[in-house]
Amino acid sequence: MSNKRVLVVFFSSSGNTRKVGQAIAEGLSATVEEIQEVNPHPADIRGKGLRNFRNMGYVVFYALTGRTVPIKAMQQDPADYDLVVIGTPIYASSLPAPVRAYLTQYGAKCKEVAFFSTGLDPRPPRRMFRQMEKACGKAPQAVCAFQADRIQAGDFLPQVQEFISRLSSEP
Ligand SMILES: Cc1cc2nc3c(=O)[nH]c(=O)nc-3n(C[C@H](O)[C@H](O)[C@H](O)COP(=O)(O)O)c2cc1C
Repeated sequence: MSNKRVLVVFFSSSGNTRKVGQAIAEGLSATVEEIQEVNPHPADIRGKGLRNFRNMGYVVFYALTGRTVPIKAMQQDPADYDLVVIGTPIYASSLPAPVRAYLTQYGAKCKEVAFFSTGLDPRPPRRMFRQMEKACGKAPQAVCAFQADRIQAGDFLPQVQEFISRLSSEP
C-alpha cells in the first residue's frame, strides 16, 4: 500500500463520517477531501429543532428517491489516485444524495474504489453499498460499516486498522 496513491473522500453532516474518514486517511497517509453540498441541509438523527426535523425529511426523501443534489467542485482529481476510499452516512437504508452526486460525477475517473459507511445499525448496509457500486460503475475492493455509537465513544480505531489492513493486502 505504501507506494499506492490513495484519496479518501467522504460526506458528513453530524461529524461521524468525518472522524472515520480522517482516521483512515491518517492511517494510509492519504489525501482527504470532503464532499460539500452547494446548499447544505444539516441533519442529525439525534438533533433537535424544526430546521433539523425539516432537513431530515428532505435528506430522506432525496436518498429514497435516488436523487442527486449540486455539490461543490472537488479539488482532487480521482484519476490521479490508485485507490479512492469513499465514506458516507446511511439515510433510511439508502445513499445520501451528495454521495450519489459525487459517484455519478467522479466515479468513472476512479481506478479502484473502497467504501465505508457510518450508521446506527451495526449491520453492513448491503443495499446502500450496492447503490454506491451502481452509481460509480465499479465493485469495491473492500467495504466496512462503522457504528455511530462506537465512533462517538471513540472506540473505532481498531476497526479502522482492520479496514486498512484489508486495503493494504490488495495487490
Ligand atoms: C435522516 C437520517 C436517516 C438515517 N437513517 C439511518 C438508517 O436507515 N440506518 C442507520 O443505521 N442509520 C441511520 N441514520 C443515522 C446516520 O447514518 C448516522 O448517525 C451517521 O453516522 C451520520 O453520519 P455523519 O455524522 O457523518 O453525518 C440516519 C440519520 C439521519 C439524519
